[in-house]
Amino acid sequence: MTTPTLTSERLSLRPATSHDVAAIATVWLNGWLDGHLGHVPEELRQHRGLEDFRERVPERLDLTTVATLGGRVVGFLTAREDEIEQVYVDASVRGRGVGAALLRHGEHLIAASYDVAWLAVVAGNTRARGFYTHYGWYDAGAIEYSAQIAGGVFSVPCRRYEKRLPAGTVRTRMVAHG
Ligand SMILES: CC(C)(COP(=O)(O)OP(=O)(O)OC[C@H]1O[C@@H](n2cnc3c(N)ncnc32)[C@H](O)[C@@H]1OP(=O)(O)O)[C@@H](O)C(=O)NCCC(=O)NCCS
Repeated sequence: MTTPTLTSERLSLRPATSHDVAAIATVWLNGWLDGHLGHVPEELRQHRGLEDFRERVPERLDLTTVATLGGRVVGFLTAREDEIEQVYVDASVRGRGVGAALLRHGEHLIAASYDVAWLAVVAGNTRARGFYTHYGWYDAGAIEYSAQIAGGVFSVPCRRYEKRLPAGTVRTRMVAHG
């Protein structure tokens, strides 16, 4: 499977830092609206403003990888244990391989410790579901996902997607380097 070449600017992945909080929150907000409006209970919308995302980013920085194009943050991924918790790409650069690079990186991180990765996606987010399927993820059934909101969680009906990871080589390499 090939990733489209990003010809005009260089795509880089790096760990997120505190300087990225505002940019991540903006990508997250806009991507969340694109992928979720009309597909999640309407009440969740009131917990998904820019300030809500800004508050959620700092506690995830250690788990977050950003994608930059020409130095600009254009996407991010959060991997928590065996879960791809978030993967979002700015609308202006979708379809250019940024999501693929992030997802591959997230899978690699998880493969260091787990055989199977999982994520939750709302049933109506057909673009994301097609993207995951394209990369070998499969629908493992319905789940109620506990989406974080200020002061608690909000239960969202989702599909659980999983992918079996080629973990052996990664783990062997990690062991070999102590
Ligand atoms: C889903 C998302 C992350 C994908 O990122 P992207 O940068 O547009 O995806 P890419 O350009 O890297 O796509 C890579 C490959 O997946 C394929 N692909 C992308 N979307 C697809 C779809 N809906 N169906 C089938 N294939 C798809 C592309 O054709 C490409 O294939 P190739 O590598 O063989 O050429 C992006 O659309 C996004 O941010 N959406 C809004 C936020 C969202 O819904 N996030 C997920 C929440 S669960």
